[in-house]
Amino acid sequence: MTKLPEGSFSIRPAVSQDLDALAAIDAVCFPPGIAYPREEIAFLLLNPTVITLVAERSGVIVGLAALERRRRTRQTARYGELVTIEVLPQFRRESIGGALYETLETRLREWGGSSIRLHVSVENADAVAFYQRLGFRVIDRVPQYYLRRVDAWQMEKDLL
Ligand SMILES: CC(C)(COP(=O)(O)OP(=O)(O)OC[C@H]1O[C@@H](n2cnc3c(N)ncnc32)[C@H](O)[C@@H]1OP(=O)(O)O)[C@@H](O)C(=O)NCCC(=O)NCCS
Repeated sequence: MTKLPEGSFSIRPAVSQDLDALAAIDAVCFPPGIAYPREEIAFLLLNPTVITLVAERSGVIVGLAALERRRRTRQTARYGELVTIEVLPQFRRESIGGALYETLETRLREWGGSSIRLHVSVENADAVAFYQRLGFRVIDRVPQYYLRRVDAWQMEKDLL
């Protein structure tokens, strides 16, 4: 378990018993159609290639993050696909999202990962600013990625 600097939050791996709390947070953080169906969150929790973390304050889950460990082929580089990072609105700008990300990045580096990729809606300026601050750069614009309507930025960060 990782203590955050202020000492009032902690980060731990998610477990299957967290499913209800994670689905509730996801439904608050994303609009219908973009929020993950409950079954997909359950799949994240069961999938051994996915690292899923929760942030807790006083024993209550206030944020989550997930990253899938991938290899392009057996011989080539290992990398991570950031699935999500989300913090309940009333707990934002307290470094929780950043701490969740840093923990995932550390875990990926330990596994030998050399880069992290993600998709984010071009309409989600808050998240784009958050990822740019973490060192991600835009590498592509993917048309109609969300709901077959909204484009996504594909962003990447090298861990070298
Ligand atoms: C994106 C998100 C996870 C950030 O979580 P957070 O806990 O508020 O992030 P942090 O407090 O660690 O922010 C770190 C830095 O990122 C940048 N940042 C974060 N939110 C920002 C915002 N709304 N506007 C501009 N910059 C922002 C800032 O530089 C911030 O540092 P500062 O507070 O010292 O200025 C949160 O806004 C969220 O849950 N959004 C909804 C879900 C979502 O869109 N997730 C990402 C797509 S998968």
